[in-house]
Amino acid sequence: MSQSHIFILMIVIPLSFSQSATGKECVCDLKNLDPPFPKDELTKVETAVLKCIGSITSEKMTDLDRLVLGLQQRIKQLEDDVVMLEKAKSNLYAAVSLRIIELEFAEIQDLLNKLNRTTSDYHHQGVQAAAQLDDMKGAMVELEKFDKMQVIKKYRENQMKKTLEQCKDELKASSPPPTASPGRCGLGQMVNVAGPRTSSITPYSTSYAYGAWGRDMKPAPGEENKYWLVVLTSSNVYGYYVRQYSTLSTLLLGLGPKDTYISNSNPTTNTIQGPNMVMYANALYYNCYYTSSICQFNMTTRAISTVALPSDTGYNNKFPFGHLATSYSYTDMDLATDESGVYVIYATTSNFGNVVISKIETSNPPVLGQTWKTSLYKITATNTFMVCGVLYATRYLDKETEQIFYSYDTKTKEERFDLKINIKKMQTNIEFLNYDPRDHLLYAFSDAYIVTYELIFQ
Ligand SMILES: *[C@@H]1O[C@H](CO)[C@@H](O)[C@H](O)[C@H]1NC(C)=O
Ligand SMILES: *[C@@H]1O[C@H](CO)[C@@H](O)[C@H](O)[C@H]1NC(C)=O
Repeated sequence: MSQSHIFILMIVIPLSFSQSATGKECVCDLKNLDPPFPKDELTKVETAVLKCIGSITSEKMTDLDRLVLGLQQRIKQLEDDVVMLEKAKSNLYAAVSLRIIELEFAEIQDLLNKLNRTTSDYHHQGVQAAAQLDDMKGAMVELEKFDKMQVIKKYRENQMKKTLEQCKDELKASSPPPTASPGRCGLGQMVNVAGPRTSSITPYSTSYAYGAWGRDMKPAPGEENKYWLVVLTSSNVYGYYVRQYSTLSTLLLGLGPKDTYISNSNPTTNTIQGPNMVMYANALYYNCYYTSSICQFNMTTRAISTVALPSDTGYNNKFPFGHLATSYSYTDMDLATDESGVYVIYATTSNFGNVVISKIETSNPPVLGQTWKTSLYKITATNTFMVCGVLYATRYLDKETEQIFYSYDTKTKEERFDLKINIKKMQTNIEFLNYDPRDHLLYAFSDAYIVTYELIFQ
């Protein structure tokens, strides 16, 4: 690659998100517009589900708890998607939204059936909610009819847009205070994300939107300042080699990289699939090509060892990250590092497509360690990362903002869906996000840009 084509950008923007306790959420404000969707019905179902949760919160997290909590979140998601449908700008988009809503319905119905089957204790609530859902289904059919004639009309679009913009401003001015799980590792509670701190387009330029970068989390002596970069140079899906730079500045300038090829012929079973990989103790950990296994690639010997995830683990785009309009291709497995080592975040059919976290013991060969099941539906999150044994998940708010909205504490098994910590984006999508316990920075790969953010702890 010619050095003269490399475009360098370094930006240092200190940012703080001032927040007070009086904020309202967009969704709540929209309810005032009396939209055609039967919100009351949704609220009823939500209330029923909440009651159900209330009666079991004293118990430990069981399969049933997860099911119910996941159900509640999915109904919320459905509500959000209906709001999206209402502001759809074109027939095509409205049709797509409707299809997604239909699929969500089918999933909620499926969960309710499972809930009904799981135990007779919760039989009553399950049946009630299912009956309400049936009513809602009828209302949806009505909505669908209505949509073809009304929803896309200009006046409504404008009205919605105006309200949304107004509400967005309000939200910016008065977001509620961020809440987070109690901190560990002497770090305190995570309260904010500042940045972008460093930002640069990769030496590969804008051709490749998917990639990953960072430092070795457990470097050999003398290798502490080394950075690695992997760009998925084949269809935004596969990567064949690891590029290493001796310092951050040589990476930013694209100087003197050393390339280490996974294999002499590609693609092979050991090719890197998807962008969510990490480097730990001189080995790269990633989802191996076309399998539900994790590869450990020894940077010195180029030897590869693998560890298989459970047989019902989603791979090859079964449970990728995403949001309503987009899914991030081949992001079924997300490797993460924190103070205690390496984890893999994925989803299984037996956990209903919800996120499962497994520790990876970095022995040779690697082995799966402790596993935790969550109620976070994987394809509604855009990315995850771990800090001090706590999993955080992000979602897409708009082109400028990504939000940390979810946490799961592997020590207490406490799960939260109410975090509101915003991340200011350089580009629309964040394909890779990982925490470096050495410098407390988040490393992001965002549409061909490499970006860092500083995590602020209380
Ligand atoms: C729930 O299960 C019971 C039997 O266990 C069945 O009679 C009932 O129809 C089920 N309800 C729904 C909504 O599937
Ligand atoms: C990589 O290979 C070197 C040399 O054989 C060995 O010392 C090291 O432990 C290996 N690393 C991993 C993670 O297997």
